[in-house]
Parts: sequence; C-alpha cells; structure tokens
Amino acid sequence: MTTLKDKIKILLLENIHPFAIEKLKNEGFEVVSESASLPEEELLKVIHQFHVLGIRSKTNLSKNFIEKASHLLSIGAFCIGTNQIDLVAANKKGIPVFNAPYSNTRSVAEMVIAEMISLSRNLGDKNMQAHQGKWNKSATGCYEVRGKTLGIVGYGHIGSQLSVLAEALGLNVIYYDVVKKLPLGNAKPVRTIQELFKQADFVSLHVPETPQTKNMIGAEELANMKKGSFLINASRGTVIEIDALVEALKSRHLGGAAVDVFPVEPQSNSESFQSPLRGLSNVILTPHIGGSTEEAQEAIGREVADSFIKFIKNGSTRGAVNFPNVDLPAHNKTLRILNVHKNVPGVLKDINEIVASTGANISAQYLATDSEIGYIVMDLENAEAVETAERISKLKTNIKTRTV
Ligand code: NAI
Repeated sequence: MTTLKDKIKILLLENIHPFAIEKLKNEGFEVVSESASLPEEELLKVIHQFHVLGIRSKTNLSKNFIEKASHLLSIGAFCIGTNQIDLVAANKKGIPVFNAPYSNTRSVAEMVIAEMISLSRNLGDKNMQAHQGKWNKSATGCYEVRGKTLGIVGYGHIGSQLSVLAEALGLNVIYYDVVKKLPLGNAKPVRTIQELFKQADFVSLHVPETPQTKNMIGAEELANMKKGSFLINASRGTVIEIDALVEALKSRHLGGAAVDVFPVEPQSNSESFQSPLRGLSNVILTPHIGGSTEEAQEAIGREVADSFIKFIKNGSTRGAVNFPNVDLPAHNKTLRILNVHKNVPGVLKDINEIVASTGANISAQYLATDSEIGYIVMDLENAEAVETAERISKLKTNIKTRTV
C-alpha cells in the first residue's frame, strides 16, 4: 500500500517533453525519463521500482503486463490515442489511465487551413516546379478560398475548431456528424453526407477510426463529390479507399487532395513511404504530422503531468479514460483515504464500519462507480489514516487503497 510518506517514482518512456519532466520533479517526484520505448519483457523487469508510468504510442501495455504491474498507481498516455493500453485490465486493477485529448486539436485544424489554400492555389506543385528550375507563372486553375464551401465530416474537437478558422477566412461551412452538434458561428449541419458532397468545394474528414468509418469514402462517394473539389484527410488512414482516390485524381474528377494519414504507415523515419498517391499532381502528402507541433507536444506534457499530479497528490481522476471520474477539492487539514474496490453490494457498509470503529470523523466522502469498480475517497479527522487504510485494504473487495 502506498502512503503519503512514500516518495513517488515515475518512469517516462518515448522522449516525453522536458516540460512534463520538470513539472513532475517540481512536485517532489523522482522522475526517470528514457528516449525509447521498451518491449514488454524489459519493462516488466524494471516496473516494480515505479509508481507511475508514462508512455506514448509505441509502448504496448497488454493485460499480461498490467496484471503483473498491478502495483502501479496510474498510467499516462502522452498522446491522444489509448488503444496501446488494455484499458479494461487497468480498470479492473484500479489503475486510472490519463491522456491528452485536446492538446493537438488546434495544430490539426491549422494544418488543414494551410492545405485548403495550398490545394486551391496549386502551391505544392508550383513549389516543386520552382525548385526544379521551372517558372510556371499562371493564374489558370488557381482560386481564392473566400466564398467557397467547406464540408466537414465529423464535427468534433478538430472539426469544430476548423469550422471557426475557416469562417474567419470567408468560407461557408457545412458539416455532417452522426451526433447532433451545436453549430459554431454560421456553420450549418446537413442531414446526409451525400448532401455535403453535393455542396462542398472542400471536403475535410475528422472522424474517428470505427467500423462505420472504415472505407467510408470509396468510388461512389468520390463520384458524388463536386467536379474539381478537393478532399483532405488528416483523420485516420482507413477512412478512404486509396485506390478509388487515385482513380478520382487521375481522371481529374477531384481537383486535388491532401492526405496526412494512410492505411499502412512506416513504423519509423528510417523506413521508406510507399503509396499509390505518390507522384500525382496537386496531391499533398504529409507523414502523419497533423498534430505534430512543438506547442502540441508541450501541451500534451502539461495536460498529462497535471492529471498525474492531481491524482497522486489529491486523488482526482477527472479526465481518466477508463475510470470513474471524481474531481476532488484540495484537502489541507484532513487525512485522505482513497480506495478502489469491486463494485459489489455491501462494500460501503464494511468500509464505514471500519472507519466508525476507529472513532474518526468523516469530514467528506466521495464515491463514483462504473460497472466493475467503485472509487471511494474519504477525508478523515482525528484518525490514524494509514492504520485505517490498512484495515480497509484487507477487505476481500479491496483492489487498491492508499493515503494522501
Ligand atoms: P472527436 O471525437 O472530438 O470528433 C470526432 C467526431 O466524429 C465526433 O463528433 C463524432 O460524433 C463524429 N463521427 C463519428 N463517426 C462518424 C461518422 N460515421 N460520420 C460522421 N461523423 C462521425 O475527435 P477529434 O479529436 O476531432 O479527432 C478526429 C480525428 O482526427 C480522429 O480520427 C483522430 O484520430 C484524428 N487525429 C489526427 C491527428 C493527426 O496527426 N493527423 C492528430 C489528432 C487527431
């Protein structure tokens, strides 16, 4: 059991931003930071020395790993996605997983704006031609974006930010989402994706990867898009059928495309990039960098480090992706016990009986549950919190107990 007297040790893999390291050290935590990821067997050899683990997208944390490292207090994904972590296993072991869902939203939206203008003015090809010594001064086929219509598919964090930026440039914005979303500014929802294809001069995709979005843009959808329109994908590579897109570009049905994500992407910068889109005119290809800015990296570091600090020092689990969310006030004069337990009948009665038998006064109590676990936080006055917590930790229903 971890108590308030323990020195918290944090292992960060995959080159986490120095800002996060500094922030965590300033809180008095011991931080070990490695630039590479570690394979599971190697990580298992060292993880017993740490209370908290921070990773990015290349470290896989399987059920096997989590069961063996069940002493961990928390895991942080210093990125957006968390599918590299077995979230269900972590939940059952009482380990909240934090990520940084909004940190690179603006970075993606800004890149899409740049791509719309670049496609509309043929900047990619003209830049390449100038580098090759070719002077192609011509207005033919080059347009302003002002007054054109942008169709956003998926009006979530990125889609809605893009909507605001695009309107500021004088575009009309329409969007299609499977969920009813509040339109920002003058943006207008359309009822079907076909309606969006019919009207949009630019179609920009901002949907998650789900069975419904897999290959959602194929030959038929491309044929429904306006002649000469542009397609932008900075969401997930599986959303577009690449061969159909190649055909639509070669036949000049589409005026161009900007693609940042691909069905198969190189695993590292040393691998070469293969795609049938290579070499096509007015096609901007980027190596999955929509969210890759210095600002986003720093914001990710700040967001996850803040979540760790609030959880370790205070017990707050707000923003955890796999765990009952509790946003707790600071506790100064009290002792706080945090207990994760199996969500079965009778647990609260058992815990309260233990506390009552110590003669302690419960000054505040918070509880949040999901289908598997319950998370109870108690602020105690006049109590020996560590001893009380130790008794709670011996209950059969106990998953994890600590004091802060
Ligand atoms: P979000 O979850 O805030 O928004 C996604 C939206 O898509 C939601 O409003 C949802 O209701 C909607 N949606 C889901 N299924 C749909 C469907 N079948 N048709 C229409 N709408 C649908 O996600 P966020 O943060 O805006 O990210 C969007 C995408 O961008 C994700 O795929 C994410 O992985 C990707 N992304 C790419 C980055 C890059 O570097 N290129 C960086 C960050 C995110």
